[in-house]
Amino acid sequence: MEMNVGGLNLHNTDLIITAGLPSQLIKDGIPQVAFSGRSNVGKSSLINCLLGRKKLARTSATPGKTITVNYYRVDKKMTLVDLPGYGYASRSHASKKQWSALTQGYFENNSALTLVAQLVDAKVGITKDDEEMINWLNYYNVPYVVVVTKCDKLNKTELSASAERILSCDLFRSQTACILFSSEKKLGREALWELILKNCFK
Ligand code: GTP
Ligand code: MG
Repeated sequence: MEMNVGGLNLHNTDLIITAGLPSQLIKDGIPQVAFSGRSNVGKSSLINCLLGRKKLARTSATPGKTITVNYYRVDKKMTLVDLPGYGYASRSHASKKQWSALTQGYFENNSALTLVAQLVDAKVGITKDDEEMINWLNYYNVPYVVVVTKCDKLNKTELSASAERILSCDLFRSQTACILFSSEKKLGREALWELILKNCFK
C-alpha cells in the first residue's frame, strides 16, 4: 500500500474533530475533500482505503446512527471530510433536522471545499435521496466526481451496465467524471487520489 501520495505522508493522519453541531464545523483555509452518500454506501471504508488505514474512519454495522461531520487532516496539508449519511428511513424527525442543519452549514460559505466525491452504490444505483443530494451539489456549485462503490460485488458485465445507468442520470453536470471503486479490492484508489491532488493543489 502506497503511504506517500503526492508528497503527503499518509502515516501522519488524524481525526481532528467530530462535529455534531454547525458551530463545530471547521472554516479554515486548508483544502477539503468531502465524501457524500447514503448511509452504508461505503464512505468511511473508502476514506480508510485512501488513507491506507484499517480503522481510522469508523465503519458501522448499524448505518446512520451518528450524524456527525468527521474531519481527517492529512499531513497538515489537506482534510478529508466524512459527511453524515442520508436516506436512513427510520430516522426521527429531529435527527433529519440535524442532518439538514449540519449539511447545509457544511456547504455554505466553505471556500476551502475543493471537491466532493458523491458515492453511489454499484448495486443500488441512484436513489431519490441521491437525486436530492445532487441537486444540493449543483445548487452550491461545488465541483464533484461520482464514485461508484462496492464494485467487487458485481461482475464485469453487470458493472458496466450499472455505471452506464448511474452516469445517465440527467442531474449530473455534463462531463462529470466517474471512478469505479472497491475498498475491499482497493480498486480506483490511485485514480481518485490523482483527482483529489489535482483539485487541492492546482
Ligand atoms: P454511514 O457511516 O452509516 O453513513 O455508512 P458509510 O457510508 O460510512 O458506510 P461504511 O463504510 O460504514 O460501509 C458500510 C458497509 O459496507 C460495511 O459493512 C462495509 O464493510 C461495506 N463495504 C464498504 N465498502 C465496501 C466495498 O468496497 N466492497 C464491499 N463488498 N463491501 C463494502
Ligand atoms: Mg460512515
